[in-house]
Amino acid sequence: MIRHLLTGEEFDHDAMMRLFDLTAKIKRERFSPNAIKPLAGKSIGVIFAKSSTRTRVSFEVGIHELGGHAVILDMGKTQMGRGETIHDTAKVLSRYLQGIVIRTYKQSDVEGLAEHGTASVINALTDDYHPCQALGDLFTILEKKGSLDGVKMAYLGDGASNMSNSLALVSKIAGIEFAIAAPEEFRPADSILNYANGSGKISWTKDPKEALEGADFIYTDVWVSMGFEEEAKERMRILQPYQLNGKQLALAKKDVSVMHCLPAHRGEEITDEVMDSPNSIVFDEAENRLHIQKAIMATLMPE
Ligand code: CP
Ligand code: NVA
Repeated sequence: MIRHLLTGEEFDHDAMMRLFDLTAKIKRERFSPNAIKPLAGKSIGVIFAKSSTRTRVSFEVGIHELGGHAVILDMGKTQMGRGETIHDTAKVLSRYLQGIVIRTYKQSDVEGLAEHGTASVINALTDDYHPCQALGDLFTILEKKGSLDGVKMAYLGDGASNMSNSLALVSKIAGIEFAIAAPEEFRPADSILNYANGSGKISWTKDPKEALEGADFIYTDVWVSMGFEEEAKERMRILQPYQLNGKQLALAKKDVSVMHCLPAHRGEEITDEVMDSPNSIVFDEAENRLHIQKAIMATLMPE
C-alpha cells in the first residue's frame, strides 16, 4: 500500500494508471450520491510555509468533499516557525491527524514528517518537487488525448525548477517523452536527465525549436519560483529567449496544447496571446488539481 506522496516515485506505472482511473471516477461522480467518502471521521492538516491559491483551496474543498475535516495551518504561526523540530512536530501531529499535506522549502522536511510520524504525508510543493501538480497535469493530458501512448511534452524555461523535476519524474514513470529547453544556467540536473536510462525520452536542449518539434503539449512555469526572489533580475535576463510567445507557438504543431501550473506571470514566461489562445488548457489543469488530490488522498488513506 502507498502511504505517502513525497516525490511521485511512490507510484509505479500501474499504480499511476489506477490513480488516473480513480481520478476520472471521482471527477465524474463529484456531486452524485455515489461519491466516495474515505476521509469520513478523519482530520487532515494542511500546512503552508509558502503562498498558495490553488493548492490551499483545492485541498480544503477536496478534504470536505471526501467527508474529512481540514486543519489549515500557516507554518510561520506554528511552533515550527519558532524552531520546533520536524521530528517532534511529526510525532505530535500524528497523535491528532491521519494525514498531513505540506508546502515548504526543504524536501528533507517533508520526508522527515513521513519518517518520524504515523500520518500519511503529501508533498504540496517543495523547492525540489511538486508531485500533485505533475500528476494532475498527466491526468489532464490523458483526458485530452485519451491515451498517453506516443505523447511528447516540451518544457520551456527554468529547467531546474520543482515543476520541471516533477514533470520529468512522472513522464519517466508514464513512459512519455519530455523535452526540456532551458539555458545552461537553469539546465536540469544530471540525476533528472538520467531518469530515462539513456532512452532519450527525457532530454535537454538549449534550443526551444528543437524541443517544440512534434510536441503535443508545451509546458512552462514561472521564471522566479518561490524562495528564489533574490535571483529575479538575473533569471529574467537569462530566461527571456525561452518566453512562450506567439513566435514560439508558431513553431509547434497547430493543435498543440499549452500548459502552465499557474500562477502565470503574464508578459514574463508566457504572453497574453498564448495564455488566452484556443490552445491554452491551463484552467482545465487547475480544475484537475482538485480531482487528482482527492484520488491521491483516497489512495493513501482508504476507508
Ligand atoms: N499551481 C499551484 O500549486 O498553485 P498555487 O501556488 O496557487 O497553490
Ligand atoms: N515553480 C513554481 C511553482 C508554483 C506552483 C514555484 O515554486 O513558485
